[in-house]
Amino acid sequence: MEIKAKVHYVGVNDRTKALFENLWPLPYGVSYNSYLIADDEKVALIDTVDVAFFEVYLKKIQAVIGDRKIDYLIINHMEPDHSGSISLIKKYYPGIVLVGNKKTFDMVDGYYGVKGERLVVDEGDCLPLGRHTLRFYLVPMVHWPETMVTFDETDGILFSGDAFGCFGALNGACVDRNMNTAIYWDEMRRYYSNIVGKFGNPVQKALKKCAGLPIKMICSTHGPVWEENIPQVIDMYDKLSRYEAEEGVVIAYGTMYGNTEQLAEVIAEELSCEGIKNIVMHNVSHTHHSFILADVFKYKGLIAGCTTYNMHLYPEIEALLSKIAARDMKNRVMGYFGSFTWASAAVKKMAEYAEKLKFEVVGDPVEMKQSMTADNYLQAKELAKAMANRLKLERK
Ligand code: FEO
Repeated sequence: MEIKAKVHYVGVNDRTKALFENLWPLPYGVSYNSYLIADDEKVALIDTVDVAFFEVYLKKIQAVIGDRKIDYLIINHMEPDHSGSISLIKKYYPGIVLVGNKKTFDMVDGYYGVKGERLVVDEGDCLPLGRHTLRFYLVPMVHWPETMVTFDETDGILFSGDAFGCFGALNGACVDRNMNTAIYWDEMRRYYSNIVGKFGNPVQKALKKCAGLPIKMICSTHGPVWEENIPQVIDMYDKLSRYEAEEGVVIAYGTMYGNTEQLAEVIAEELSCEGIKNIVMHNVSHTHHSFILADVFKYKGLIAGCTTYNMHLYPEIEALLSKIAARDMKNRVMGYFGSFTWASAAVKKMAEYAEKLKFEVVGDPVEMKQSMTADNYLQAKELAKAMANRLKLERK
């Protein structure tokens, strides 16, 4: 697919893999995007694809350039979903020059041991191909230390690596103007929160670096090529990386027999009575944490609760909270509750997590023994009110 003069999409779709990184579900699949610039003088391939798709990938490349050789392989990112085909590309195109920065080649050596000619580039270096001229910008930790983006100064195309990427395979079209993009927005938030979520500051730095570029098209390594929706895509990444949130509450609870869930229900009902419209309830044993994380990135409030389990938090809540903690989230408000049957631990452990997360804590934690008492009912309502009042302070 030619997406601009001499610039071709040669990526592939994966609708087989169950879990991206063996962690994150892919209900709509995922694409591994690669781009081929078949210019007058030189041919450049930008990133590769998961090695499992090499055969179809090679056919796509050959359909564009026939027997012509590829001069450069530009490696924006070394995670194997993009670098996995480097060895085979080198085998089929032995004269290809690998282009990356210093950190790229440490990983090329470690993962693939590929030898041959290399071009080591640094911030602002350029590579002319004929009609197109490429310039390189380093964007470390978006999403690994070696990541860089490549900007085609001729047509204003930003080859952005994982930045601006999203889950979801491409169904026919690859450029946003030719498709219904509805499924990709939530998948972009989920992709960001699951994969890149810890790296808010590096993403902000990268956004500032790219802000001066006259970008007319964004070619990420996952999901649609963005042309019509560039402001929306940049705005989403900007808000997510600043940990900006909408008014709303995620209630995440761990329950074994439904008693703890009843507290969650009271909290949700009271939040609604207080005028909070965005309330998302997640039974943490039922909803994959990938989706809960995306909602925690979306909404300002989190109320977490669970039963005591072996004198610790209920394991699925602990797993969720540790995933949230691993993302260094900021700008969130938290309330919590817990239960026990004969010895209490959940509320105490929840307090430790709240401190670790550094979230602003609202209301008094609710602690329930065995099943809900009239007092617990009122305490749960008070907790919900405290959260609602805190969120409403930010209404304009
Ligand atoms: Fe899609 Fe960080 O690799």
